[in-house]
Amino acid sequence: MDINKYIAERVRNLPFSEIRAMLRQVKQIPDAVNLTIGEPDFEPFEPIKKAIVEALYKPSYTGAPRPCAYPPGNGVYELREEIAKKVKTENKIDVTPEEIVITNGAEQGLFLSMLTILNPGEEILLPDPGFVTYGAIAKVISASPTYYPLYEENEFRPLVEDIKRNLTKKTKAILINSPNNPTGAVYAKKDLEEIAELAVEHDLAIISDEPYEKFVYEGKHVSIASLDEEVRKRTISIFSFSKTYGATGLRLGYVVAPPELSKHFAKLLLYNTSGVCVPVQIGGIEALRCCEEEVERIIEEYKARRDLAYKRLSEMPDIHCVKPKGAFYMFPYIGKYGSSKAFALNLLSKAHVGVVPGSAYGEHGEGYIRMYLAKRELLEEAMDRIENALKYLEN
Ligand SMILES: Cc1ncc(COP(=O)(O)O)c(C=O)c1O
Repeated sequence: MDINKYIAERVRNLPFSEIRAMLRQVKQIPDAVNLTIGEPDFEPFEPIKKAIVEALYKPSYTGAPRPCAYPPGNGVYELREEIAKKVKTENKIDVTPEEIVITNGAEQGLFLSMLTILNPGEEILLPDPGFVTYGAIAKVISASPTYYPLYEENEFRPLVEDIKRNLTKKTKAILINSPNNPTGAVYAKKDLEEIAELAVEHDLAIISDEPYEKFVYEGKHVSIASLDEEVRKRTISIFSFSKTYGATGLRLGYVVAPPELSKHFAKLLLYNTSGVCVPVQIGGIEALRCCEEEVERIIEEYKARRDLAYKRLSEMPDIHCVKPKGAFYMFPYIGKYGSSKAFALNLLSKAHVGVVPGSAYGEHGEGYIRMYLAKRELLEEAMDRIENALKYLEN
């Protein structure tokens, strides 16, 4: 008997994550400097942790039957209320708690969004290079991922003519991600206005993935849904606590969408995970109330890391790099040294520095590597090692 025959094709054909594979290799080298990961290296702030622990011992929201009873399907009301305030003041999207659904991270928000809007065979336009999950989700639900390129020449910001070129009759939605993983690009308001105009003209839904909204070093983060009512009506905005609060393992995020869509997210959530861990949601309320200054300090720290990494990379021969305006990655061009995969493997085996080959993020990521902005002393060490390695990689 061949057990493999039981695996559905859409799952069997889905590749395992190249990033995780790279991470496994890095972990086998004890003195490796690991720049592969895409998660912050600070802990959730103390008041958040305290709120989570206390929520285990007493009912923590209005109407809670017990501390650890099932959560409300679309999330704890008090959290959605707090989020509505934040989204109104910071993202300039006028929402009610009814339009917000609490999710297990942005990942689940992405999953619910695509599952809700895409029938099998329908196309969604995704960024290339882009976060690998997007294409994977589209494939799992038997939709068709198609791609629009992002070019270094335009600081990896999308050009509307490149998007247009990839539109077909089957295109139902476009996904945008600013600040961007892996490039660190922050889209200008004008970029978003042009994309919005295109979406309205071609009647596309917009998924706007914004987990790095706070990680902006120059310029300002603009949520596309804030542009006008016509755009807002067709936009699903996805946010996360993961990066802002060093809380990737808490799995807390939320989706803001018109009520006609968000009621379906809540329905799907019920059939999937039955909601999000209640104490974690209570921690989310505290996070939004307590920690603005702490978050600002973290962003300052990442800006200093970005400046350090940019300076060091700019001094290296045959490497060039757009100075990222946001997120927490560098995405330098290393194409003169060969393919991104060969370069990453060489760097790991010879210099003991782990990075992700740009090809993992799509065809247009080839020639680049993604580097996480680790703590400054680790970054310095990594840059010393890379600089050294380039001498023999050249020969
Ligand atoms: C662009 C992007 N979207 C979504 C996510 C998922 O975040 P979360 O931890 O909230 O699920 C990540 C995580 O790395 C990401 O980089």
